[in-house]
Amino acid sequence: MRSAASAPGKVILFGEHAVVYGKPAVAVAINRRTTVTLEDSGEMRIDIPSLGISFTGESGTPAGGILDYIMRALELYHDGSPLRVRVDMEVPAGSGLGSSAALTVALIGALDAYHGREAGPDDTASRAHRVELDVQGAASPLDTAVSTYGGLIYLAPDRTVRRLSADLRDSLVISSTHRSGNTAEMVASVRERYERLPEVMSMIMDATEMITRTACRFILENNLEPLGELMNINHGLLDAMGVSTPELSMMVHEARAAGAAGAKITGAGGGGSIVAFCPGTAGSVAEALGRKWNTLRAEFSSEGVLHL
Ligand code: MEV
Repeated sequence: MRSAASAPGKVILFGEHAVVYGKPAVAVAINRRTTVTLEDSGEMRIDIPSLGISFTGESGTPAGGILDYIMRALELYHDGSPLRVRVDMEVPAGSGLGSSAALTVALIGALDAYHGREAGPDDTASRAHRVELDVQGAASPLDTAVSTYGGLIYLAPDRTVRRLSADLRDSLVISSTHRSGNTAEMVASVRERYERLPEVMSMIMDATEMITRTACRFILENNLEPLGELMNINHGLLDAMGVSTPELSMMVHEARAAGAAGAKITGAGGGGSIVAFCPGTAGSVAEALGRKWNTLRAEFSSEGVLHL
């Protein structure tokens, strides 16, 4: 028996971290995917060639990083029979581009096919969110929703997913720091600041919500021009939450100097990536950032989880 599924990575355009506090967010799936292939095997085995991971049951129980998501999904949604799990990642781990969500959603898709289960996207997204919650301790349903549904989505405060459409072709440049970010640690550090300074942090979350709602309104009106400025303001608030680093700030400023309409951290921060909105200037912004950092011109992808 063999089954396989893939799911896309994502960039958050507005609202990361605030989304953990019930605020809305806007995110888009990108054309970088993670593929999980499952095969019957005489032993439990997990291979992730891009990370140099080759794990067998005899190596002991793995701890930390991406393997935690695999082990938890297998505990919840597999019957324990030995399997070979192969993960091919185009979404680098710790890059802030939704690597854990893409992996979890693809694995759940592959497990459903393996067990002959029919599952709709709402069910897939909610089971993947459960895995992220169990592993990270705190997680919004945003990343797993984007990896499941694909496209450009608005996650509302009541946690419903609204599909948006916007012409983002040739407009998004993503650049990654030399340091990977740890989502669980960054979410915990924001919580810690929130507990120390609740009045200040709740205002920052409310302001982030206003930015996200305003951005959503402009997208619905098909007016993308103000998005860059809104991204810049959102970046300022992420800095105020404590999730920027000198390198991330430098990248954001270089992107703007090279012609981006706006640029901000995307994802949890503390390392990871920035996203720049560059209608008409993506080439020059990618070139400027690409001199120092790993940079890609990400394309919007309308495809969510796919059974292969
Ligand atoms: C991470 O990609 C996004 C965060 O908002 C965490 C979450 O939504 O679970 C930082």
